[in-house]
Amino acid sequence: MKPRIAPKTQQPATFAFKDADKVKDILSRYPVGREQSAIMPLLDLVMDQVGDEAKQGGGWIPEAAMKEIARIVNVSDIKVYEVATFYSMYILAPIGKHHIQCCTTTPCWLRGSSDIVKACEDRLGIHLGETADDQMFTISEVECLGACVNAPMVQIGDHYFEDLTPERMKEIIDLLANGVDVKMGSQTGRKASMSAAGPTTLVEDAKKAGIA
Ligand code: FES
Repeated sequence: MKPRIAPKTQQPATFAFKDADKVKDILSRYPVGREQSAIMPLLDLVMDQVGDEAKQGGGWIPEAAMKEIARIVNVSDIKVYEVATFYSMYILAPIGKHHIQCCTTTPCWLRGSSDIVKACEDRLGIHLGETADDQMFTISEVECLGACVNAPMVQIGDHYFEDLTPERMKEIIDLLANGVDVKMGSQTGRKASMSAAGPTTLVEDAKKAGIA
């Protein structure tokens, strides 16, 4: 899906951060003279703000926001543009309210990610890289999201949903469509990245911790 940049007709002319304290807080994390380190969290803040303000759809990063970040951290516009276009987590065009990022890299693929993608496509009537007409969902394909041990998995918004089956994937879509919060993490109740069959080592400690 990357790089997909909104055409000029969809780009707002200006952008301003509405919460100056949040911007200040982000900048304060970095030493003086290293303000450009704040580019990534500021891009994330843009997506949150645009998503919160959107009447339909989710958060994305307009070019005007990239220019505003460049002005704040005192670098050329292209420096911010380079970061924003490199990482798949930065969305540069209008998108659905719920962005389902399907991991299809080898471990997830071996564990059935093709069926998870198909479940999304069937339920929503759209294909990878597309957004539903009501702007509620976008589905896209991404590379390994680092949760291979609980494959197959997807990321929706900022959260991971792991140990998926096609049936559970469809249920999650239905719940989100109805505004219901969905349990994050493993969908089978697995604790973190523990063996699916429960603890195999340190069993006594696991019992003491109440996870066995
Ligand atoms: S392969 Fe899917 S999370 Fe790593």
